[in-house]
Amino acid sequence: MATLRLIIILTLSFTATVISVTGHNITEILNEFPSYTLFNNYLTQTKLNDEINRRETLTVLVFNDTIVSEYLSGLDISVVKNALSVHVLLDYFDLPKLQTIGGGSVMTTTLFQTTGEAENGAGFVNITDLVAGKVGFGSGGSGSKLNALFSRSVKQIPYNISVIEITSPIIAPGVLNRSQPLDVNISSLLEKSGCKTFAKLISDTGVLQIYETTEPRGLTVFAPSDAAFNAASLPDFKNLSNNDLISLLLYHALPVYVPKGSLLTVKNPIGTLATNQVQKFDLTVRTNGDSVTLDSGVEMVCH
Ligand SMILES: *[C@@H]1O[C@H](CO)[C@@H](O)[C@H](O)[C@H]1NC(C)=O
Ligand SMILES: *[C@@H]1O[C@H](CO)[C@@H](O)[C@H](O)[C@H]1NC(C)=O
Ligand SMILES: *[C@@H]1O[C@H](CO)[C@@H](O)[C@H](O)[C@H]1NC(C)=O
Ligand SMILES: *[C@@H]1O[C@H](CO)[C@@H](O)[C@H](O)[C@H]1NC(C)=O
Ligand SMILES: *[C@@H]1O[C@H](CO)[C@@H](O)[C@H](O)[C@H]1NC(C)=O
Ligand SMILES: *[C@@H]1O[C@H](CO)[C@@H](O)[C@H](O)[C@H]1NC(C)=O
Ligand SMILES: *[C@@H]1O[C@H](CO)[C@@H](O)[C@H](O)[C@H]1NC(C)=O
Repeated sequence: MATLRLIIILTLSFTATVISVTGHNITEILNEFPSYTLFNNYLTQTKLNDEINRRETLTVLVFNDTIVSEYLSGLDISVVKNALSVHVLLDYFDLPKLQTIGGGSVMTTTLFQTTGEAENGAGFVNITDLVAGKVGFGSGGSGSKLNALFSRSVKQIPYNISVIEITSPIIAPGVLNRSQPLDVNISSLLEKSGCKTFAKLISDTGVLQIYETTEPRGLTVFAPSDAAFNAASLPDFKNLSNNDLISLLLYHALPVYVPKGSLLTVKNPIGTLATNQVQKFDLTVRTNGDSVTLDSGVEMVCH
């Protein structure tokens, strides 16, 4: 009897393996990209690769090995599985689709939602179209912010699977059972440092959301002070088109944390938030003015 049951189980699992063969193989896709080796290994260890291969019409959000080490090392494999399943979206998104999201924002279901363990929206991902063609991602969990940006398209097999790199992991509340990163209010920091005009500009143009999305991995903002805005020497912002103003504001921020002390030694030029494939907006650092340094990896230089 026991032998018979064993045979049946073996037959069932064999059948399941056969059914799981679809057009794509995520392991093979990621094998071509050395910077996702750890991500790929984790997909195999957690068996999420089988789940991904079995399904059609999905998007896998990947991040590179440096970030995998920071985010996932030392965690129990069951926790890693949940954390990664938040990054498997049950819909197909490529860059053109991301940039034409109706209403500018969409909630999409993730593989984590299918586990029944997701609470308070943690099984969903919010995708939001930001200004300047940037796309932000965040957990659909209550109180979550957008904390990752589209970084690049890795591989697309329309409309079966899309693999996209993002700048940071999407942190769903409760998944990691770890303390949440420090919540920084960029607007209020700028206001307190005497950069009210700049704070209002970034908020009015939507650039604030890009700063916020970049902040988890470090952010350095070069903000003109209110006094500088009033000085006659400053070019007239009012004459700029909205697009030029947005580029200018993105140009005033670096997607890395550069403490004021290191600004002197940093190798010029450094890529700003306005740097992308099409246009190159790099910044040559000049150090003057006061700065506000925070432990959280955000640097505001008011000048
Ligand atoms: C997409 O998946 C379907 C079903 O597995 C498969 O028949 C089709 O060939 C796949 N398309 C591509 C372009 O691989
Ligand atoms: C997917 O590709 C990997 C690496 O090439 C291979 O080891 C694995 O057997 C493949 N999986 C399926 C279901 O074909
Ligand atoms: C991963 O991305 C971060 C941030 O963009 C970068 O600093 C790092 O060098 C990258 N690491 C790899 C292995 O590509
Ligand atoms: C996604 O998040 C943004 C920023 O927090 C929010 O404004 C937007 O309403 C959210 N989108 C959806 C569909 O809930
Ligand atoms: C982690 O989860 C356990 C059980 O849910 C809980 O007892 C513990 O306080 C949590 N730890 C943290 C740091 O939130
Ligand atoms: C951040 O600070 C600004 C200005 O002080 C305030 O208007 C805003 O409500 C704050 N945001 C949050 C999420 O607390
Ligand atoms: C800004 O525009 C106004 C009116 O359109 C014009 O008179 C002025 O010269 C412009 N200023 C600069 C700095 O281009």
